[in-house]
Amino acid sequence: MADNRSIGVFDSGLGGLTVLSALLKKFPNESMAYLGDTARVPYGTKSPETVIKYALNNAKALMRSVDLKLLVVACNTATAHALPALQKELSIPVLGVIKPGAFEVSNRPEIKSVAVLATTGTIGSNAYEKTLNNQGYKGEVFSLACPLWVPLVEEGLIEGPIAESLARHYLDQLPKLPQAVILGCTHYPMLLTTLKKVMPAETIWIDSGHATAALAQFEPSNRDSGELKVYVTDAPERFRALSSVFLGYSVPERQIELIDVGVSE
Ligand code: DGL
Repeated sequence: MADNRSIGVFDSGLGGLTVLSALLKKFPNESMAYLGDTARVPYGTKSPETVIKYALNNAKALMRSVDLKLLVVACNTATAHALPALQKELSIPVLGVIKPGAFEVSNRPEIKSVAVLATTGTIGSNAYEKTLNNQGYKGEVFSLACPLWVPLVEEGLIEGPIAESLARHYLDQLPKLPQAVILGCTHYPMLLTTLKKVMPAETIWIDSGHATAALAQFEPSNRDSGELKVYVTDAPERFRALSSVFLGYSVPERQIELIDVGVSE
């Protein structure tokens, strides 16, 4: 039976739009509701307890506003800290971005070494290493926090000398060149053109957002096209302006609503 409920997607702010974009491309007939917690971004430097609280606020607020059949946690840091809490507390299936991203590596035996690039919080949680281990990955894993890449992308500086220099600043810290790189933060896929200039041509790039869209499972709708509704916790105008950097077009004003996610009940 068709299921015309929406797919919910939330992130700390704008970065999750890279995941939303992959979902919209793969599932054009599904309605989606995106929540960006723009009032409390960034999550990447916050404690696990705070991120869990924020993630639960966001998920519950989204579920109060829209009838959802699946929730995608389009934020690596929120997935790293809050996925078990979300899966325990919510009545719908919840999909994070880390398992799918790690699976793209563990599923390819030719990959013998991988670098995980992510926020300080995601790296500190060891979530990618643990997941790769659980999936039976036996290769080398190098983990590196690249915190300055988030504000860089939000300034729209995704190419050019500043982006290239900040790409080198972090990638030069890898102990050796990995065969594959997991872009373990929602903002990092936006820097891919620059990162490719700094790393060898044969590097395999893994975008956790794309991997998540590829693995998402649910009962499809029977609509001819889906609708997009966006909720933000602050500054809808800034969100609208920056959405074009991530999506290639600005989300129309009428589709963006300010939401109060309140406190966790
Ligand atoms: N969305 C976050 C992530 O993927 C990056 C931005 C932030 O620090 O909140 O980890």
